[in-house]
Amino acid sequence: MRPLIAGNWKMHGTLAEAAALAGAVRDGAGGLPADLLVCPPFLHVAAVAAALRGSAVAVGAQDCHAAAKGAHTGDVSAAMLRDAGATHVILGHSERRTDHGETDAAVRAKAAAAAGAGLVPVVCVGETEAERLGGQAEAVVSRQLAESLPDGFAGVVAYEPVWAIGTGRTPTEADIAAIHGTIRAALAARFGAAGGTTRILYGGSMKPGNAAAILALPDVDGGLVGGASLVAADFLAIARAAG
Ligand code: 13P
Repeated sequence: MRPLIAGNWKMHGTLAEAAALAGAVRDGAGGLPADLLVCPPFLHVAAVAAALRGSAVAVGAQDCHAAAKGAHTGDVSAAMLRDAGATHVILGHSERRTDHGETDAAVRAKAAAAAGAGLVPVVCVGETEAERLGGQAEAVVSRQLAESLPDGFAGVVAYEPVWAIGTGRTPTEADIAAIHGTIRAALAARFGAAGGTTRILYGGSMKPGNAAAILALPDVDGGLVGGASLVAADFLAIARAAG
């Protein structure tokens, strides 16, 4: 299937910097072997979507609330994101699970709300270093997957080992392939044919130098890129490596 290379800009950049980065990605997006998605902070979603309108680059947010509207100070609904021009939303990133105590049940509710509002949810799973060292990686990811995905899920899954995020460390290729295979089997068992075509992204210290090897692994259908997505040339080089 056609790979998806997604950039998670996290909490980086002024409005001007976001617009400039979006423009540079747009200008390099022609003829790539992958679909592109950029996910700026909430505040910049509308401006980035405007800058990318008519281009091949899609826009997503990094979270949404599970409710359609209401008294939820500081939160943003999926419908608001759709209205601002987003088509995707990252949900259950480990930084939100850690910083905001998001549970699998909360992520599941958000994913259902996102889909209901017409957004493609990009649901993140991944083990901590202690869980990996304890031999629990597959069990943790399987549990997160089972409990974070709503019934009828039609989105994207991102496997991001927590210990690989922002550290420059990655699992071995064999370990990535093993977990992605486990995720694929779980998706197929639960969702049938749709699970076979769900894109499974790898995230965690993906860079131009390691992207080709990771993206060539079975059941790796793209990448969720943090730090390297803040440099257009690096993000585009990763996308080229998907070919
Ligand atoms: P890094 O690419 O900076 O390791 O971040 C990965 C990530 O968390 C993407 O969501």
